[in-house]
Amino acid sequence: MLVTKEISKIRAERWREPGKTWGFVPTMGMLHEGHLSLVKRALQENDGCIVSIFVNPAQFNNSTDFSNYPKDLEKDLSLLENLGVEMVFTPDKEVIYPANFSSKISLEGLAGKLEGAARPGHFDGVTTVVGKFFNITQPHKAYFGQKDAQQLLIIKKMVRDLNFNVEVIRCPTFREENGLAMSSRNTLLTPEQKEKAAILYQSLQLAKEMIAAGERETAKVIDAMTELINREGMAQVDYISINDRETLEEFPTLQGKILISLAVFFDQVRLIDNVIHQIE
Ligand code: PAJ
Repeated sequence: MLVTKEISKIRAERWREPGKTWGFVPTMGMLHEGHLSLVKRALQENDGCIVSIFVNPAQFNNSTDFSNYPKDLEKDLSLLENLGVEMVFTPDKEVIYPANFSSKISLEGLAGKLEGAARPGHFDGVTTVVGKFFNITQPHKAYFGQKDAQQLLIIKKMVRDLNFNVEVIRCPTFREENGLAMSSRNTLLTPEQKEKAAILYQSLQLAKEMIAAGERETAKVIDAMTELINREGMAQVDYISINDRETLEEFPTLQGKILISLAVFFDQVRLIDNVIHQIE
């Protein structure tokens, strides 16, 4: 497995056999089964797989969140080696953002909603770094998790808008047994908080049940979810939102293909989750 901080080494290996197909999985490390499910799929669907591990400062709007972000490069590399990954790109900040770096990929509309509203500038950081990684690795397919539903939508739109020559593949959210979506940030929770964080998924299930039972008033569903989470006591809701799955528009009356999403704090740790649902 080639592990390198250098763009030129990634490029050289990527093009050594030009006929070979490549899958790419960008990550911020502290890998868990969710990340690995993307890597396994990339390995299955391509001749080779490239993974990047880079905690991207540009997408953090909170410096404590950035400095607290968990890291374990050695463990990450051994997990990837065991799966048979060919290349891991682990650049330093200066490689990605050299002195005088001044460009930005910024999507209007989608990037200002939900996570973008709660974390200003976040998606500009994501699209800029992912755009750079696409140019560095030039993969045939790139794999993203439904866990970050808005990120996935935005990357797909960026690829369409800017004609990146890559197919973006959506992968399902991988969960703990209690329903908690796997996340690198889960390692920052106490065991008690981790248990209680199952409430996020339970509230998403409650929303689906209410809608299946005929509820069509967006506010009523959101109120019931909020109440359930508040009853938990340890969790603080940042936002709960129900939107059109593609445009992320909000409607007072539920209809069509929807995304039910939320962000919740356990102390300083901010967790997000979502489900998609089709209203008949
Ligand atoms: P990170 O949070 O490390 O996630 C890397 C990829 O793994 C993302 O596509 C994310 O959606 C996916 N993922 C995370 N948890 C998952 C789960 N439980 N099930 C399925 N997929 C999961 O997302 C980022 O990093 C960054 O924003 C990045 C795209 C690397 C740009 O810096």
